[in-house]
Amino acid sequence: MSITKTDTMEELLEKGLDFFYKHFPESKKPDKMGVGPGRVNLIGEHTDYNDGYVLPMALPMVTIMLGRANNTDTCRVVTACVDFDDTIDSNRTEFKIPTVKPLSVGTPKWANYVKGVIACFQSIVVGFDAVILSSVPLGGGLSSSASLEVATYSFIEAITGNKTIQLVKKAMVCQKAEHMFAGVPCGIMDQFISVMGVHGHALLIDCKTLQYQPVPLTENTYVFLITNSNIHHELSNGQYQLRRYQCEEASDLLNVPSLRLATMDNLNRVHFEGKINQIIYKRARHVITEIERTKSAADALARGNYKMFGELMNDSHNSLRDDFEVSCPELDQLVELARKVPGVLGSRMTGGGFGGCTVTLVNRTAVNTVVETISTEYTQNPKFYVVSPSCGARIFTTL
Ligand code: GLA
Repeated sequence: MSITKTDTMEELLEKGLDFFYKHFPESKKPDKMGVGPGRVNLIGEHTDYNDGYVLPMALPMVTIMLGRANNTDTCRVVTACVDFDDTIDSNRTEFKIPTVKPLSVGTPKWANYVKGVIACFQSIVVGFDAVILSSVPLGGGLSSSASLEVATYSFIEAITGNKTIQLVKKAMVCQKAEHMFAGVPCGIMDQFISVMGVHGHALLIDCKTLQYQPVPLTENTYVFLITNSNIHHELSNGQYQLRRYQCEEASDLLNVPSLRLATMDNLNRVHFEGKINQIIYKRARHVITEIERTKSAADALARGNYKMFGELMNDSHNSLRDDFEVSCPELDQLVELARKVPGVLGSRMTGGGFGGCTVTLVNRTAVNTVVETISTEYTQNPKFYVVSPSCGARIFTTL
């Protein structure tokens, strides 16, 4: 088993042009492209919808949407990345730009992300022919859906010439599309980092004020290794929503607008008085401590203290596993295996949980040993990626 090489944006573009000619042989050359990266969250999990901090970075893996306006009121879209588990899905969709009745959710499922963004876009969209390709693993917890929404939005900006100046607004529209058309009540993190990512940096995002601060990741000795557990992660199955409700219940009990404003002292007092049940207590404890860990971790990174950063990653995973209960045996096993290897500073699950990926901070010289150790012990066909922080959404108006 070795490190998986993923297509660069340029390689995807080349494949995308061929794919477009194959599916739209009568069309002229595509001239517009929108690009949205996936993300890996380094620390700050399940804190975004609690008004807390997160520290993600944008990935070199991206989703691209490329094509051209077709002078009709119809959108025709073909994707090269259908989830083959989903038998009712097909790789092609066609729908009219609505004039009276709004666009609605339907099949294929992937098309809902495209429709959602069109429905929430700031101006009327024109008909187009387009193809979608991606190097972000689907359902791997690396925000393949946010990258599709952001690629779609950027493509629509290109074909309408109507660019959104306030990038936070762009991220919020994509989040709204996910809420309304994918039925996932996600926080803002994934769309935010996919829009705003800064090359060479992670972003410390304050999800209350939506202010952010780039934190440089310049140290060459250590790298971030992503391991895909190959356990399909699905956020629309109710567990994510349940966690949101439990956090709301905790903030109501603590009489604060969100857990961002709660403290462990408050929480322990309410617990001591017997006013909070054990599950809600544990959920809140995760969020309150994770917000603190995220601030400390950003601080540690800024000071070049990678050892401390790694320890905080470990604590984050343990809290997600034991208190927030969003890990799974496979993610726990991957984390344990990685932590055994000398040169690993920290390892944790990343993203919503219940499958998907882990992220490991490891000395560059020890990467191969981690890969070998995991490949020997973990039997579910893991995939490995060494990633560097990349830039956010891109809009191309000529190709
Ligand atoms: C998913 C959601 C994000 C965030 C993470 C957990 O990725 O889309 O908004 O809540 O889970 O940190």
